[in-house]
Amino acid sequence: MRPVANIYLLLAAFLLAGCGKTEKPRRPLTAQEQRGERVYQANCAQCHGTAEIGPTQGPAMTGLYSKPYLPSGAPANDERVTEVIKQGKRMMPGYARTLDDAQVADLVAYLKTQ
Ligand code: HEC
Repeated sequence: MRPVANIYLLLAAFLLAGCGKTEKPRRPLTAQEQRGERVYQANCAQCHGTAEIGPTQGPAMTGLYSKPYLPSGAPANDERVTEVIKQGKRMMPGYARTLDDAQVADLVAYLKTQ
């Protein structure tokens, strides 16, 4: 094989290997999403986990809004997610008295980034 062709092969292998490893670039969180992240860490992470640590109770929150339906089959929209957060669901406590509307809105904004 000619040396020039070898260089192209090496380059192709290098690019292919690199492609598989690149992760989806994540944009930095907005101020609202950062507030929501703090609310999540303080109130939800102990059951629903984080991207690094999986959930201990209930479903993982990663990709919650990337599917049309929530784990229960209800539509994945702000109304439904807000209702679950405020009212709770079976083993999940409700947060209507713990979190105000602004905190719940921040939380929903954060969940959309997950
Ligand atoms: C004590 C553990 C616990 C905590 C704390 C908790 N959850 Fe849950 N969560 C659950 C369980 C269990 C379920 C599954 C409920 C079911 O469908 O039976 C659930 C379900 C959910 C669902 C899916 C509802 C559906 O319709 O599929 C969402 C969204 C959710 N939780 C968000 C949150 C958020 C946001 C917080 C923080 C404010 C939170 N949870 C705090 C245990 C918890």
